[in-house]
Amino acid sequence: MSHWQELERKYFMQTVARTPITLVRGQGARVWDEAGRQYLDFVAGWAVDSLGHCHPVVARAVTEQVRTLIHTSNQFYTVPQIQLAELLVQNSCLDKVFFCNSGAEANEGAVKLARRYGKLYLNGAYEVITANNSFHGRTLAMVAATGQAKFQEPYAPLPVGFTNVEYNNIEAIISATSDKTCAVMLEPLQGEGGVNIPDEGYLAAVRAWCDQKGILLILDEIQTGLGRTGTLFAYEQYEFEPDIMTLAKGLASGLPIGVILAKDEASVFSAGDHGSTFGGNPVACAAGYATLRFIIENGIPDNAGKVGEYLVSGLGRLKKKYPFIADVRGRGLLAAMEFSQDVASSVVTACLEGGLLVNRLKPNALRFMPPLIISNEEVDEALGILEKALLRVGS
Ligand SMILES: Cc1ncc(COP(=O)(O)O)c(C=O)c1O
Repeated sequence: MSHWQELERKYFMQTVARTPITLVRGQGARVWDEAGRQYLDFVAGWAVDSLGHCHPVVARAVTEQVRTLIHTSNQFYTVPQIQLAELLVQNSCLDKVFFCNSGAEANEGAVKLARRYGKLYLNGAYEVITANNSFHGRTLAMVAATGQAKFQEPYAPLPVGFTNVEYNNIEAIISATSDKTCAVMLEPLQGEGGVNIPDEGYLAAVRAWCDQKGILLILDEIQTGLGRTGTLFAYEQYEFEPDIMTLAKGLASGLPIGVILAKDEASVFSAGDHGSTFGGNPVACAAGYATLRFIIENGIPDNAGKVGEYLVSGLGRLKKKYPFIADVRGRGLLAAMEFSQDVASSVVTACLEGGLLVNRLKPNALRFMPPLIISNEEVDEALGILEKALLRVGS
């Protein structure tokens, strides 16, 4: 264990089982550890480093902003947040934004917005229906929204007002809806819960049900948004529009940011209803503006779609060769490989030794979420390292 890792053990609450390398530098799709070893990064800060590490466009925007104005409060107007808001609205189906600092905070705010809507227009309805195997963040309310027992049980009793139902099952949403329901909140495809892709028609059916009942549809695009699944937002692939959408992760290339976006009709906060000291911070927003412009102007979602297909077909070839691979699935550059045994940790370790960083999604599954600027050649390199790791683990 290195000096830094010993200090971490001494000073930190041990909330993460960290991979035993200390990263000190990153460039493009690669990172380097303190010993100078290079790794191909298919974790990308948990789907955050959309343009790879230290992209020059982002580095320039952040450096200029840090030299100009680092922070004021939202008592005043600042330019980068307004530029970013305009770009988000012009390129999505939503009309208004609220900036915050993380995915959980964005979702928490989205639920507050839906409850406000419920108070104003739905006789005080406050309940939000969410899905099993979802992931919406780590605040207490978002743990209640997240339909996974392992995140909920340690913290019971949880805040009230959330009903978790089976994903990909419209009947489950219909039967959970009552006169207390103000919204349904879903990920278009579930990331943390297993890279679970819904059946054709599910999201459109949820939209139709929400319309029929006059309740809101909140779409959590924190992991799927900003090009990751092959379109700027995943909802574009399912031909429906949410009333509220949340973003975070990939928006500012690694600077902390979260966004609630809403249609005009759902944008019901008034002055003093919600707030955030750091939300809309000029440096984070300058990074977000530079990142989003680059994503849009350079067809990055399209690259994610094409290279993603290449990655998933390469993973599919491995599945045919190695019988202990039970499933391969993905959309764009969000993919998973599931094993018939709990070997994911061993595969992650073997990949690390080969110079590839991958995420252990579950004891029996890996997740791949490289930067969106990745090339087919880098995918080939990753597949080569992964195959050697599979050979080692499987033999
Ligand atoms: C779909 C989704 N929602 C919310 C979150 C929480 O985001 P954060 O960790 O920034 O609070 C995540 C994080 O993985 C996520 O994948």
